[in-house]
Amino acid sequence: MKVGVIGCGTMGSGIAQVASTANCDVVVYDLSADALAKSKLALAKVMARLIEKGRVTEQQSQAIQDRITYSSELNLMQGADFVIEAIVENLEIKHKVFTALEAIVSEDCIIASNTSSLSITSLAACLQKPERFVGVHFFNPAPLMKLVEIIPAVQTEATILDQAKATIDSWGKTTVTVKDTPGFIVNKVARPFYSEAIKMLEEGTADFATIDWAMKEIGGFRMGPFQLMDFIGHDVNYVVTETVFKAFYYDGRYKPSFTQKRLSEAGYLGRKSGRGFYKYAEGAENIEPTKDPLLGEYIVSRIVAMLINEAADTLHVNIATAKDIDLAMQNGVNYPKGLLAWADEKGIQCCVTVMDELFDEYREERYRCSPILRKMAKNSTIFF
Ligand SMILES: NC(=O)c1ccc[n+]([C@@H]2O[C@H](COP(=O)([O-])OP(=O)(O)OC[C@H]3O[C@@H](n4cnc5c(N)ncnc54)[C@H](O)[C@@H]3O)[C@@H](O)[C@H]2O)c1
Repeated sequence: MKVGVIGCGTMGSGIAQVASTANCDVVVYDLSADALAKSKLALAKVMARLIEKGRVTEQQSQAIQDRITYSSELNLMQGADFVIEAIVENLEIKHKVFTALEAIVSEDCIIASNTSSLSITSLAACLQKPERFVGVHFFNPAPLMKLVEIIPAVQTEATILDQAKATIDSWGKTTVTVKDTPGFIVNKVARPFYSEAIKMLEEGTADFATIDWAMKEIGGFRMGPFQLMDFIGHDVNYVVTETVFKAFYYDGRYKPSFTQKRLSEAGYLGRKSGRGFYKYAEGAENIEPTKDPLLGEYIVSRIVAMLINEAADTLHVNIATAKDIDLAMQNGVNYPKGLLAWADEKGIQCCVTVMDELFDEYREERYRCSPILRKMAKNSTIFF
């Protein structure tokens, strides 16, 4: 199979590696000669590390690199079966590239975008044959993260969706199918992990080190919300929240926080700038968590109930199946359990009670309990 990758920054480089490792012939195109050179060099370094760790042989490493052609000529996409675009997040620029691409590739080439925030339907709309277009949302780093969200546009033909899914499955990824909605599954359902943690910090319920401690030690999450936001970068994390908030017509459930906006404005972007909520300079002192078990239980129960509510509401409006929602959160952001399975375990009524108590206290939209949870509690049903 011949795969085209357009744009070889962070994501395109990773996707090219994944496709080549799966024995595809890959053509990588980028406007910037510098980006092409960097991508090639970065792959050589990754492969050297994989050889050191004994994950690939010298021969396999060479073959993976040899199967990739780097070019600043879009024409080399001729004969491609599947092209994935991973360029700058801008609708007009992406439209220009797709229009040029469609004049080069054959009628039955599948064209896909790795966009995080643009509607797949709006991207497909520029094509002569929009039914061949699909969203394939990889996570960073693409070679390591198992999950790929597959998003049909309104125009996508069912057979194209099936083919795209089968191809990415054959690359060893875990795919889930998602309706074309802002944030898809992961970037929508994960919002409360950050926003509810920040809300508790702002109100003085607990400091960030304590919230992180509770989510890790009691909740079983790999990273606490503040550690994770520092890792992602506050500029990036804030923009995702703001984009989802706007795209859902300013639904109060997704309201961004001033606290994170200010960190971003200050240039305290997290690990990458040496300071976020935590300080990362050598020898820097950070606050110690208050390891109060009761407070910890309260923090976890509140954030997990908010996450479950968001996951349940995602099912309620048929964005994805219950199985795919749980798979997505476990493979896309490494949650310790699927959220809907967790709801079954905690008891649906218990989740409704936490949400209703929060709503009574705040009278804010963000705490509105999903109708599906209320209905399930009434009928004593469970997700799985
Ligand atoms: N970075 C992430 O964590 C992440 C995760 C999932 C999806 N995405 C999505 O993937 C896409 C790429 O993101 P990224 O982080 O890899 O970006 P990036 O800035 O690292 O790389 C973008 C590359 O596209 C090239 N480019 C820009 N305009 C071009 C054009 N007109 N023609 C050809 N090449 C062009 C640039 O030279 C650059 O090398 C975006 O749509 C983004 O929303 C990003």
